[in-house]
Amino acid sequence: MDLQNAKDIGNKHIMHTYDRLDVVIERGEGAKVYDQEGREYDDFLSGIAVCNLGYSNEKVNRTLHEQADKIIHTSNYYWVESQIKLAEFLAEHSCTDQVFFASTGTEANEAAVKLARRYQYDRGMENKRCIIAMEDSFHGRSLTALTITDNDDYKEGFGDLPDDFGFIDLNDLSQIEKIDDCTCAVIVEPVQGEGGLCIAEPEFLQALRKRCDETGAVLIFDEIQCGVSRTGSLFAYEQTGVEPDIITMAKGMGNGIPIGAVLAKKEIAESFQLGVHGTTFGGNPLSTAVALATLEEHIRLDIPGRTKEVGAYFKEQLEKIVNHFESCKEVRGKGLMLGIELTFKARPVVDKMVERGFILNSTAENVLRFVPPLIIEKEAIDRMIESLREVLKECES
Ligand SMILES: Cc1ncc(COP(=O)(O)O)c(C=O)c1O
Repeated sequence: MDLQNAKDIGNKHIMHTYDRLDVVIERGEGAKVYDQEGREYDDFLSGIAVCNLGYSNEKVNRTLHEQADKIIHTSNYYWVESQIKLAEFLAEHSCTDQVFFASTGTEANEAAVKLARRYQYDRGMENKRCIIAMEDSFHGRSLTALTITDNDDYKEGFGDLPDDFGFIDLNDLSQIEKIDDCTCAVIVEPVQGEGGLCIAEPEFLQALRKRCDETGAVLIFDEIQCGVSRTGSLFAYEQTGVEPDIITMAKGMGNGIPIGAVLAKKEIAESFQLGVHGTTFGGNPLSTAVALATLEEHIRLDIPGRTKEVGAYFKEQLEKIVNHFESCKEVRGKGLMLGIELTFKARPVVDKMVERGFILNSTAENVLRFVPPLIIEKEAIDRMIESLREVLKECES
């Protein structure tokens, strides 16, 4: 289907919720994607931090085919072997004990908030209902996820959202006292994705942990974007000196197959008893088989270690750019979850980069975001940096 055709039919029949680039992506290979005319792009977005192993991981793709030939879906009325093995893997590789499987990040956060509220209720703390999130947070688009997302534009026109939610400034230690006896849970992204690649400082997260312990609030880490090796460890919390009570995951977990998860310490997880929560697709054979293969490949290939090394190199190159161009304010993020804050809207830069064969995107209006497949080669980074220099030069002149 050529681009014009795609736009004509798509605009007619698909609701207009996305601001799409003029590209029809047809296939991927390694860390590159190709459009329908065979044009090659170095991918610095990986389907928004999803295809962390790139597009050609042999084990992931083989598992997908083999599982599809066996069975794609059954239901949670039965035991599912790949679901059990994945749950065991997650418990062995994290500070948590039990998991609830969902299909997306939003669903995982929705379930995490429900779990925290139910946990407080089960231990006779019905007054602890307030969920505290961070300014510039993003947790998804369901009504609850939207409520804990700090973006008024996303909330406009939807009427009253659930009550008993509040915000504090990320990294502002003076606001931690806002967590009090009425606080049910605190939710934080260890590195904010949509909010502009801001890092939650370990000291801040440690203070959150301490205050949650003092008040009996549940600490939730949303690792939907920053987890699955993205920042240089399988789970982002591993680099913070803090163990959260609940972790939410999605995106990179299935390398493109939709899956989300809520991981929790046993004491809290026990509040999800028979009939308390559920979903048809959560934990289905196909998604869990592929997620298990994906996570095993992360370990086998030491993707966290590689990400740390390549991420440090990438950050160095971005810092050189920021030092050179007046329109660049600062480099943010860690691992291969990086951004440059510009003094102007980033979208025109994105468009010019696509014309030159590089897929990237912008977030928080003026931040260029780089979340490539974690298998990206330094040569691709060098190519992108060279083009970015040309584009920024054009934009400044
Ligand atoms: C940190 C974070 N939480 C939650 C979500 C929502 O996930 P999903 O789009 O899979 O519902 C996202 C998506 O970008 C995210 O970055």
